[in-house]
Parts: sequence; structure tokens; C-alpha cells
Amino acid sequence: MAPRILFVCLGNICRSPAAEGVFRNLCPEVETDSAGTAAWHVGKPPYGPMQAAASARGINLSDLRARQFTVADFDRYDLILVMDDSNLSDVETLRPVGNETPVRLMTDFSPAAGADHVPDPYYTRDFDGALDLIEQAAQGIKAVLPSLTD
Ligand code: 4NP
Repeated sequence: MAPRILFVCLGNICRSPAAEGVFRNLCPEVETDSAGTAAWHVGKPPYGPMQAAASARGINLSDLRARQFTVADFDRYDLILVMDDSNLSDVETLRPVGNETPVRLMTDFSPAAGADHVPDPYYTRDFDGALDLIEQAAQGIKAVLPSLTD
């Protein structure tokens, strides 16, 4: 069975919806979603400049809406992919006792890029740089999908 993958960032309006959009284009058979560790933007569509940058690459994010990461996500997904160390610790803080769902950095899957996190374009304004990293990582995740299913 195809694994269920959840992408997580801080606001769920830039990096994680972009990752969801990139990955669902690449692997439509995989169940994906995205969430933010913060609740600030719940119910909102992805940030306009990120939607525009993604759209220029043929990636449509317009149907996505922000939601907050919850404890239940540990059971709903087989793999949780976060954008930076801060997301990692925020997610790990919520892990239920006994749960073993892997939580990994997105950039673990793009070693050739030489980045240890996906910088937040809401602050850096580098939407294309974030998308470049996300697209490389998505290819890396696709390559290891079979090993995630056993
Ligand atoms: P994201 O970016 O975590 O990639 O969605 C952010 C978007 C908004 C805010 C922070 C990060 N904010 O502070 O509103």
C-alpha cells in the first residue's frame, strides 16, 4: 500500500503546502496532506507569492487550506516530513507515548542540495529557492517510496 505522507511547517501557508503540491503532482498515488505547527493561518489558502511561484512551475496550490498539526496525525500518517529543526522539535513534543511514526527533515531526502533545512520564504522572500529544495527532496522521497511501504 502506498504510504500516507504529511508535510509540516510553521504556518502551513508556504513550505508545507508547496511540498504537498509538488509531491502530489509527482506521486498522485500517495495520500498527502500538510499542516502547520502554529494555528495563525488555519482555514487560509497558501500565501499568494508562494502560489504564484508554484503556479509558474505548473503546480496548483489553490485548493489547499491551512490546518494545525494535531496529535492524531501521528496515527494517520506513515511518514511526517518537516522543514526545519524548529518544526521537528514542535512535532516531537506532541508525540504520544509508544508512537513510532518517523519524523524526518525534508532536506534529508535532497543530500546533493547541501541544505539542512528549507528556509522560510515568508521571511527570506526566496520562494523559488524554497521550491527548488522542495522539488529536489520530493524526487528523493519518490526514490525511496518502496522502502517506506514495508
Ligand atoms: P511557512 O511560513 O511555515 O512556510 O508556512 C510561514 C508563514 C507565516 C508565518 C510564519 C511562517 N507567520 O508568522 O505568519
